[in-house]
Amino acid sequence: MISETVLARTILALDTPNLGQACDWVQQYRDQVYAFKIGGALTLAHGLPIVRTLREAGAERVFVDLKFHDIPHGVALAVRQAAEFGVWMLTLHIAGGAEMLRAARAAVEAVPKPPLLMGVTVLTSLDAAALRAMGIPRTPRAQVVRLAHLAKEAGLNGVIASPREARLLRKHLPPPFLIVTPGVRPAGFDTDDQKRTATPEQALRWGADYIVMGRAILQPKE
Ligand code: C5P
Repeated sequence: MISETVLARTILALDTPNLGQACDWVQQYRDQVYAFKIGGALTLAHGLPIVRTLREAGAERVFVDLKFHDIPHGVALAVRQAAEFGVWMLTLHIAGGAEMLRAARAAVEAVPKPPLLMGVTVLTSLDAAALRAMGIPRTPRAQVVRLAHLAKEAGLNGVIASPREARLLRKHLPPPFLIVTPGVRPAGFDTDDQKRTATPEQALRWGADYIVMGRAILQPKE
């Protein structure tokens, strides 16, 4: 059972290519969760206009998680499109560099309600050996902090991080810089393919502003 307090700070991941299913979930959870997240499955299948469709179904805030990473011009064009559709939050890979991040910020400057720009630090699938193989001689935690500082200096609103890194990040980057954490599982739930999970309560206590959950809410195990 997930408490109302936790749901009020939850971004529900609509991980399905089926728009009807996604709208049903929005109608079912719109009064309980804070926002809804869509990724490649829904967006590639139906295009960005689904942001409007989901809004009509009751999703006040839509987070588009496409993790942009390209030359500054390309990212600026993509971010501008997302802003045109009234996206609430979107993701960019901080590893794209400061110039790319600043271009994204500049692209939404003139928009009345710009999307929150969130930097992806180090993918949780990467360990120290994987970083070394890419020429980065640092632990994932140290690299996360370094990239988060870069994101802040470039004008991003916050970062996506594992709950286990939230406390460390919070020490370096006080509010209103946002920390959003996926990889969250309520106590007693299957961890599925998630590694290094934490409970929602832990993630929030450690400094997360919002948590992302999908399967723990939408496919609860018996
Ligand atoms: O595992 P669950 O269904 O709760 O995942 C919800 C969302 O969190 C998914 O859309 C997944 O892409 C995202 N996620 C992430 N980084 C992770 C783990 C999950 O962005 N390390």
